[in-house]
Amino acid sequence: MDAVGPGALRGNTVPGCPQRDLPCPSDSSELVQECLQKFKVTGAQLRQIQASLLASMEQALKGQASSTSAVRMLPTYVGSTPHGTEQGDFVVLELGATGASLRVLWVTLTGTAEVGMEPQSQEFVIPQEVMLGPGEQLFDFASRCLSEFLDTLPLGKQGLRLGFNFSFPCHQTGLDRSTLISWTKGFKCSGVEGQDVVQMLRDAIQRQGAYSIDVVAVVNDTVGTMMGCEPGVGPCEIGLIVDTGTNACYMEEARYVAVLDEDRGRVCVSVEWGSFSDDQALGPVLTTFDHALDHQSLNPGAQRFEKMIGGLYLGELVRLVLAHLAEHGVLFGGCTSSTLLSQGSILLQHVAEMESSPAGAACAQAVLQDLGLSVGASDAKLVQQVCVAVCTRAAQLCAAALAAVLSRLQHSREQQTLQIAVATGGGVFEQLPRYWEHTPVSKSRFLSILQDTVMLLAPECDVSFIPSVDGGGRGVAMVTAVAARLAAHRRLLEETLAPFRLSREQLAAVQTQMREAMAKGLRGEASSLRMLPTYVRATPDGSERGNFLALDLGGTNFRVLLVRVAAGGVQITNQVYSIPECVAQGSGQQLFDHIVDCIVDFQQKQGLSGQSLPLGFTFSFPCKQVGLDQGILLNWTKGFKASGCEGQDVVCLLREAIGRRQAVELNVVAIVNDTVGTMMSCGYEDPRCEVGLIVGTGTNACYMEELQNVAGVAGDSGHMCINMEWGAFGDDGSLDMFSTCFDARVDQASINPGKQRFEKMISGMYLGEIVRHVLLHLTSLGVLFRGQQTQRLQTRDIFKTKFLSEIESDSLALRQVRAILEDLGLPLTTDDALMVLEVCQAVSQRAAQLCGAGVAAVVEKIRENRGLEELSVSVGVDGTLYKLHPHFSTLVAATVQELAPRCVVTFLQSEDGSGKGAALVTAVACRLAQQTHV
Ligand code: BG6
Ligand code: GLC
Ligand code: GLC
Repeated sequence: MDAVGPGALRGNTVPGCPQRDLPCPSDSSELVQECLQKFKVTGAQLRQIQASLLASMEQALKGQASSTSAVRMLPTYVGSTPHGTEQGDFVVLELGATGASLRVLWVTLTGTAEVGMEPQSQEFVIPQEVMLGPGEQLFDFASRCLSEFLDTLPLGKQGLRLGFNFSFPCHQTGLDRSTLISWTKGFKCSGVEGQDVVQMLRDAIQRQGAYSIDVVAVVNDTVGTMMGCEPGVGPCEIGLIVDTGTNACYMEEARYVAVLDEDRGRVCVSVEWGSFSDDQALGPVLTTFDHALDHQSLNPGAQRFEKMIGGLYLGELVRLVLAHLAEHGVLFGGCTSSTLLSQGSILLQHVAEMESSPAGAACAQAVLQDLGLSVGASDAKLVQQVCVAVCTRAAQLCAAALAAVLSRLQHSREQQTLQIAVATGGGVFEQLPRYWEHTPVSKSRFLSILQDTVMLLAPECDVSFIPSVDGGGRGVAMVTAVAARLAAHRRLLEETLAPFRLSREQLAAVQTQMREAMAKGLRGEASSLRMLPTYVRATPDGSERGNFLALDLGGTNFRVLLVRVAAGGVQITNQVYSIPECVAQGSGQQLFDHIVDCIVDFQQKQGLSGQSLPLGFTFSFPCKQVGLDQGILLNWTKGFKASGCEGQDVVCLLREAIGRRQAVELNVVAIVNDTVGTMMSCGYEDPRCEVGLIVGTGTNACYMEELQNVAGVAGDSGHMCINMEWGAFGDDGSLDMFSTCFDARVDQASINPGKQRFEKMISGMYLGEIVRHVLLHLTSLGVLFRGQQTQRLQTRDIFKTKFLSEIESDSLALRQVRAILEDLGLPLTTDDALMVLEVCQAVSQRAAQLCGAGVAAVVEKIRENRGLEELSVSVGVDGTLYKLHPHFSTLVAATVQELAPRCVVTFLQSEDGSGKGAALVTAVACRLAQQTHV
């Protein structure tokens, strides 16, 4: 057969009846047979296509699709087939499913299994110039159609929810975010590829201004068809469309979809098999007519597979064959017509009419005459054969592709046999003849061939085909219903988290209030900040020497340490001991006896028994000091509540306990708050370190203040370290305007309600609890965990602050976040996991920012004290939350920079804990004592 040259394809070719050598009749029947033969596809070829398509699908799933000839495998954000409980009224806008038409539907979902009301709908023809014009024009046209349709319904103009059935290949990044990859099927509007089509539609609706419509979801036609499939025969997990174009979607195991970070459940993937055009597999079945069709199309080289199957192309293929046969004198007495030579003159509907038998012959006659052709006696039959050949091939190729999807499902579900329902939709199913060879059958010929071929290619699969009732409109409405629910949940989440999001102004107000409270506290006036003098007047100068014992009580661990301070540096040996909750909250005597027991044990293990080393006691609770070795406990914090200690000198309590254990002798030289220990420990390395900060179980800060500003301590020159006890900031109600109902709940349930309000918004002992209360609230709103309250989540302290650090860690995939939460017995979906992550972020961000506002107040005070334009200062920091949380330290630093721009603040993490600092305070004291002696 001659190649169909472009000349024969152009509409402007002069039609007529060429007088040159027409073939004789026997040649002509050969020519016809040869032509028809080209459309025959063998079983082997179909198997090859099936295998190659499967390989292409699997590569694309792994994210390794190398060429444009591959299928795309686009995840759709539809995670489950319908529950049947979706309800509400929805507008559906369909663009791109059926040729040049746009459809608007009004769908009511009843939330029950019964089929609800028939959707109302209206169809609009999209003018050719709109299909090929600027994108904005297309979307403006769509929104005009929407209004026109809605005007006919008795509706309000507000609060309408819309599902957008947009049937082109798109990268979806959410249920309502979708970027067009490329136009297919005769559309070619400028400025849309690479853009979010949902946003374009929203903009157009807004430009039009007639209705307020919320575009909630965007859905491919295959997905709409699958989701709208009537339940009853088990879940329908494949959607197949053969309309203007062709495509399928199916439920894939999420763990196989590389671009998703998900290891559970399924996700609907749109195969986009129309773009498949592997040369090796398709080459042998592509005819010269296919090449010619591709060549003259709007997207040459693209969508090669679709161009052999989709309804937009079947009529065109038939036309090309007929023109070719006519030009070779085999049809229409060797005459063509200008219509026959014009692209697009034979439509799917004509093919359908001509193909049907026995009425087909008469139909063919009519159609061909309309094309300006003189139809001879045998012409109609030949034309019918051409139609059958083109459509049969289409159905067989479609079957090969469907068989590839079935094989994929068998493989991913590790099932030898598969029973599955396929929802089908599209004009090719509906239009191609339902009656064939005198046997009335209720299905179309296209579907019968498809079924028979699938049976041959995938014999282990028991496939039932379920025709879509309303072109997928109900399915789109269902996805929209789910999306609307998720959007409502998101709004509730945002509302819940809004009070945690502090503006710059609010943080600046915290800073200002902190400054005022500091000043009052220093003057000895009523203030929530106690500003306790520590009697530490200087940081180490490096000349300290000796061996010291240190105790470290009040953080996560209780430690006993041996600290050797020598010329070469500091060497530390330490041991961690536990303080059982019953001891922390028992009697004071019990607590201090336990501490002494631990010291004795440590001394024995270290061979120090009998030695009376100077001892520094890090005691991380608010103490009123009147000297270095006297500290009256003002009140317990952080879960300690041993009786008989508040109001007592802690050093005395320790000495009494030592007395009770007669065997030991200890020389308690200094009592030190952990903030002070941390500052001293970092100060040993960096003399600019004049602030100590703790963000651990509790939170607090200390800094070097001008002695003249400290009421109640004699002396006017020099400095003194002040333990701010900022955990109590706000206990006078000054923070109430920033405090949320969740803070109030955490406070109320604590052992010291009304106390340590700032600490309860920041430190490790409380953040997990705040998160837990937020999660409980969101569950009660139905936003999380499908609204199911679990016993576990109601348990106090079940949600540890270390989970925040783990969950927010960037290196952790969402699946690990889920694992953490599932360990807690919280069965959650991916959406739940994402929301829990956001809750953690909001709570820890606020904590870090509040802490930063506090540090800003402190460094600004130091700068102003010294009358400096710019202050350069280091802050020694310790505490599990600060050290373990992935973003906390960065956020603190950023906030300080923002609120105290004239201070250059370096944060130094303390490596050895405050025990070392306590030993250094002790060493300094010993050195000074020795100097006085001398
Ligand atoms: C350490 C101290 O440096 O930091 C502890 O040695 C202190 O005494 C602690 O309380 C704070 O951290 P956390 O997270 O253990 O409370
Ligand atoms: C085209 C589109 C695809 C759609 C199919 C059927 O192939 O790219 O998204 O599903 O046509 O309409
Ligand atoms: C608590 C204590 C305080 C300590 C802080 C950090 O706020 O009251 O003294 O510094 O926790 O551990």
